[in-house]
Amino acid sequence: MTLPASRRTVLLATGTAALAVGCGAQDAGGDASGPSPTPGQELARTADIPVGGGRIFKDAKVVVTQPAQGDFRAFSAVCTHQGCIVATVADGTINCACHKSSFAIGDGAVTAGPATEPLPAAKIAVKGDAITLA
Ligand code: FES
Repeated sequence: MTLPASRRTVLLATGTAALAVGCGAQDAGGDASGPSPTPGQELARTADIPVGGGRIFKDAKVVVTQPAQGDFRAFSAVCTHQGCIVATVADGTINCACHKSSFAIGDGAVTAGPATEPLPAAKIAVKGDAITLA
């Protein structure tokens, strides 16, 4: 008589616990969450990107670099180690503050771990002096 109700209660409690665990795991790497970048969105003017350096656009999750005069490149700003948004561009590298990985501004290759995978390339378009997401 009371057994079916008890079983239902146990099942509900188990389901709630599973949902709570699922949410916690999803939030663990939450630094990179947020709205997706929009193609055609203007990121910057070419003059905003230093030669031999770069600039991080946290909202778009993109890093734009200029390894040589007029050579603009873009990469995901989401660190391939554990998903933090990279923090700085300095001395030829894109740097993650979470665990100190760094990546080359020319091709996104790992220059210091713990990351083992390069930053994936991002698509940009340069028209005149405007840099937009492609
Ligand atoms: S998340 Fe970037 S180094 Fe760990």
